[in-house]
Amino acid sequence: MVVAYKHEPFTDFSVEANKNELLEALKHIESDLGKEYPLIIGGERITTEDKIVSKNPANKEEVIGYVSKADNELAEQAMKVADETFSTWRKSDPGFRAGILFRAAAIVRRRKFEFIAHLIKEGGKPWKESDADVAEGIDFLEYYGRQILELGQGAEVTSRPIEYNQFHYIPLGVGIVISPWNFLFAIMAGTTTAAMVSGNTVLLKPASSTPIIAYKLMEVLEESGMPAGVVNYIPGPGSEVGDYLVDHPRTRFVSFTGSRDVGTGIFERAAKVQDGQQWLKRTIIEMGGKDTIVVDRDADLELAAESIVHSAFGFSGQKCSACSRAVIHEDVYEDVKDRVVELTKELTVGNPSEASNKYMGPVIDQHAFEKIMDYIELGKKEGNLLVGGDGDDSKGYFINPTVFADVDPEARIMQEEIFGPVVGLTKAQDFDQAIDIANNTDYGLTGAVISNNRTHIEKAREDFHVGNLYFNRGCTAAIVGYHPFGGFNMSGTDSKAGGPDYLIHHMQGKTTSEMF
Ligand code: NAD
Ligand code: ALA
Repeated sequence: MVVAYKHEPFTDFSVEANKNELLEALKHIESDLGKEYPLIIGGERITTEDKIVSKNPANKEEVIGYVSKADNELAEQAMKVADETFSTWRKSDPGFRAGILFRAAAIVRRRKFEFIAHLIKEGGKPWKESDADVAEGIDFLEYYGRQILELGQGAEVTSRPIEYNQFHYIPLGVGIVISPWNFLFAIMAGTTTAAMVSGNTVLLKPASSTPIIAYKLMEVLEESGMPAGVVNYIPGPGSEVGDYLVDHPRTRFVSFTGSRDVGTGIFERAAKVQDGQQWLKRTIIEMGGKDTIVVDRDADLELAAESIVHSAFGFSGQKCSACSRAVIHEDVYEDVKDRVVELTKELTVGNPSEASNKYMGPVIDQHAFEKIMDYIELGKKEGNLLVGGDGDDSKGYFINPTVFADVDPEARIMQEEIFGPVVGLTKAQDFDQAIDIANNTDYGLTGAVISNNRTHIEKAREDFHVGNLYFNRGCTAAIVGYHPFGGFNMSGTDSKAGGPDYLIHHMQGKTTSEMF
């Protein structure tokens, strides 16, 4: 009997013992810096000449490791292995598969501080955010393990006196899992293990900025008893191996989390039926956001300001769920604006590997740094800069938290995903207009409403068109099993990671009917 699911508790780093354990773990993983990591295909370690260099975004000089890089030939080899392994894995007992996830969760929990330290180094994530990322990864393992135990039973259908009917979920085939760098452990581990525990075999292509954490997951899954060839680790350039595998006729489904441009490209490519292809490929595509917090006239204004600041600047705004726009009722606009500025000025920025444990770390790389700084320059024309507006990429990629006020809701910084520590504030005449503004982007991922007005809350529940809508709290930090996560419109296919339907996207229903 499996105990009921409960989310993994967060670590309190104000407790001296926890802080010391993390500092110890950070020191310890420094001895691993610069190591080489091979590909893993069918359990075999394969080293290539060409390497991905994973660097610490807080310190460009610090190489986390050198990772072998798949090309199309190796991707083809991995596809063959995954295809062959599927013939046996698809028949494996769901209980056996769930057991692998439960053991993996226990191993990661045991090595938690090492994993947190690794995320701090490879992802430049502050302590609290790294801890939450590891906790979310553990939650996915625990939650999807339990889900497959339920779904593995099939669903009830009606039989008749001479007819015995059954309905079961069966796996799809080989899945390509393509993950982003921002939830480098949680999303990578969640999307990979959801596909695998549903009985599919997987080719895992992690983000090129954060490939080593995915190698660590592979080690954990192997230690947990996952047979060789079930998940194959093939880091490589998205535009090469990504395209090759998305196009491949033996690919049965693609599970992608990342940017809108890449996601829509994958959606198009996967739709084309290739020579020899026997199915229509399934796509699970979760993309970006342009997420809004609405502040009503009758609201707790301190809560509103705190929610805006923490949702905008946690992990430097590098979350699909981050608040990048706040729509505030005109009667309370000035008060909320002033408090947002005060709270933002209190935030600290620095290298998260240091004991001082700053609130914000770096952004992920040079490309992100330049893109965000370009948006900040644009923001200076589109709004009034209240705080921040500068960055420093001399050592790592640091950008100060930046607030623009009085921005037109149609302005580019209010419409396009910046994916950095930038928030725009705008005024609404009344609550109806605030919801209209909140809905006026192509996206529909998260949103929040800060209000004490029950009628307004109920209106937002119906009309604020986002996949994850929160009341009287910020718009980030969904918890597996509590807040199934996924967006509408150009935010994706709304597959709702960490929700009761998620695994079903990786399976197909089979009806059998026997007369007797
Ligand atoms: P990205 O689109 O640049 O990369 C995501 C993955 O796609 C990486 O592994 C990359 O190597 C790969 N890739 C790139 N080109 C490819 C191609 N042509 N074919 C196949 N794969 C390819 O995104 P990113 O910068 O890693 O992540 C940030 C983005 O992800 C943001 O837009 C963010 O909003 C989004 N995101 C969404 C969610 C969600 O649940 N909706 C969660 C996290 C991040
Ligand atoms: N699931 C993450 C959040 O809710 C992206 O912030």
